[in-house]
Amino acid sequence: MNIIEAISTRKSIRDFTADPVPQHILKKILEIASRAPSAENSQPWEFTVVSGIILDTIRKANIEKLKSKAVPHPDLPVKSLPRGSVYRRRQIEIAKQLFGLMDISREDLEKRDRWMELGFRYFNAPAAIVISMDRSFHYPRPIFDIGSITQSICLAALHYGLGTCIANQGITYPEVLHEFAKIPESKRIVISIAIGYPNWDFPANKVVSNREPAENITNWIGFE
Ligand SMILES: Cc1cc2nc3c(=O)[nH]c(=O)nc-3n(C[C@H](O)[C@H](O)[C@H](O)COP(=O)(O)O)c2cc1C
Repeated sequence: MNIIEAISTRKSIRDFTADPVPQHILKKILEIASRAPSAENSQPWEFTVVSGIILDTIRKANIEKLKSKAVPHPDLPVKSLPRGSVYRRRQIEIAKQLFGLMDISREDLEKRDRWMELGFRYFNAPAAIVISMDRSFHYPRPIFDIGSITQSICLAALHYGLGTCIANQGITYPEVLHEFAKIPESKRIVISIAIGYPNWDFPANKVVSNREPAENITNWIGFE
């Protein structure tokens, strides 16, 4: 797959086959993605790759927290998108697309809850990559670098036939990851990525999310 095709076809995958991802492939992906740029070549990222029984334990602990209505407190604060903004409109658009494909109606609270849980379960992926950074980094600048490596991981995964979903939901309760994935308290947990072989029969995996045409958000200065 060439780079243009990879960038153009990458999409979030929200269900996976049960096939495990061989560790040597995950290693290769992280090795390749580590070529991502970072400010002053600081390379603020650290990876914790979780699979097997430990990942199942983390999923269970996340769901228990969610169901007990524990207050979300990710290391990276997440605020709702401003009501009435174009950003919120885009959020609603993708939610409608996904709920449409999954046949989830507004009123069906049970289905909505089950959908909501998916991200906290890393979409039942056979592996999850958790990216953290040392708390000594002046926050939030390294988030830019971690964004770039996150995209590189998602693109490199495509080369191996793997799908990914970046998941804020998976890091909602950092204490779960500190405890079970043994991520030291001295690390700030930035993002998680579910990774595995896509289940193409899962309706939501057919989604193609919308994009604002680049022309609408670009000012051209100094061109004839
Ligand atoms: C920082 C970040 C966090 C995200 N967190 C979640 C999440 O918790 N749950 C989820 O279903 N998708 C999550 N996504 C995926 C986005 O919803 C998705 O990238 C967006 O809708 C565009 O769709 P696409 O990835 O298929 O192109 C996240 C994406 C990013 C970049």
